[in-house]
Amino acid sequence: MQNKSIYILSIESSCDDTSAAILQNDIVLSNVVANQKIHAAYGGVVPELASRAHQLNIVPVVQQAIEQAGINKKDLNAIAFTRGPGLMGSLLVGTSFSKSLSIALDIPLISVNHMQAHVLAHFIKEENYTSPQFPFLCLTISGGHTQILKVTNYYTFEILGETIDDAVGEAFDKSAKLLGLPYPGGPLIDKHAKLGNKTAYKFTEPKTKNTLDFSFSGLKTGILYFLQKEQKKDANFIQENLNDICASIQHTIVNILIKKITLASKITGIKNIAIAGGVSANSEIRSTLKSFEESHGWKTFIPKFEYTTDNAAMIGIVGYFKYLNNDFDKENTMATPRLKINQ
Ligand code: KG4
Ligand code: ZN
Repeated sequence: MQNKSIYILSIESSCDDTSAAILQNDIVLSNVVANQKIHAAYGGVVPELASRAHQLNIVPVVQQAIEQAGINKKDLNAIAFTRGPGLMGSLLVGTSFSKSLSIALDIPLISVNHMQAHVLAHFIKEENYTSPQFPFLCLTISGGHTQILKVTNYYTFEILGETIDDAVGEAFDKSAKLLGLPYPGGPLIDKHAKLGNKTAYKFTEPKTKNTLDFSFSGLKTGILYFLQKEQKKDANFIQENLNDICASIQHTIVNILIKKITLASKITGIKNIAIAGGVSANSEIRSTLKSFEESHGWKTFIPKFEYTTDNAAMIGIVGYFKYLNNDFDKENTMATPRLKINQ
């Protein structure tokens, strides 16, 4: 007898991307993401504008996801949505929408932890992609988080280290802002870095008390002082050396990440190493990790680009696992901006 297919609609609205996906079991049928361009002019996400844009986008994005998947909303078995962490106003849009639709269609509601979803995106079934074996270490690097997690099964995440100040995505975005690049600056630093010399300039790597923790706020200040000093000598310093500056900043950040995950691997003896979150789209972190397969005997797990930055497909895969576990939510479930990784 053939197993019945489970169709899940998933919604992600934790920050500034409105996304909806349809999964058939662990396979993604559609994954629609509407980016909010409006924040670029402000140099960062403006929470109130983000909530308003989610309100505007959510219905068309869901309709598009259903259409692209070639299913009817009557086929849906459950709705999964991001409960947190994230911006309250943004989370409320996805939460309220999902609750209403689950009542209207009379199907179960499943809340999903956004950070767990970034990690479990590795279990979306894709051709030519092998999911990590447990236990594995996951370097979770995004605009809001920087953590080294030990993942022992789908539900157990132990934090071995995390940032004590800025997230690594913020370090990229704030550095980019200092260089006059629009938000989000991470991908632009990556783009310019490809054309530059990564050893052109040296920046000091901040120290932390716990060796597996991260700190990035001092780096940003160091970059600011460096740029001010150089601009006093040459007003066009940034424009004339943009590629080299980007390459050097990126190399410093990637070095910090690589050193910490290498130490975590040594301490735990775990050589299955995954990365997750928006910053895992970065080309230098991807290529450096890949090279460690040979030099360190690691098995690395690097997600497809579309599952690195915020997307609903990753919410859908967690929704699918929770569906199989009959792990459903009641209508009184609430958006939780400060949700922790194990909640
Ligand atoms: O996971 P994500 O989409 O949203 C959060 O949950 O925070 O991560 C967004 C972050 C931003 O800081 C963005 O600049 C960064 O990921 N990012 C990158 C790259 N692509 C996205 N940082 C460096 N290099 C990239 N290629
Ligand atoms: Zn994220």
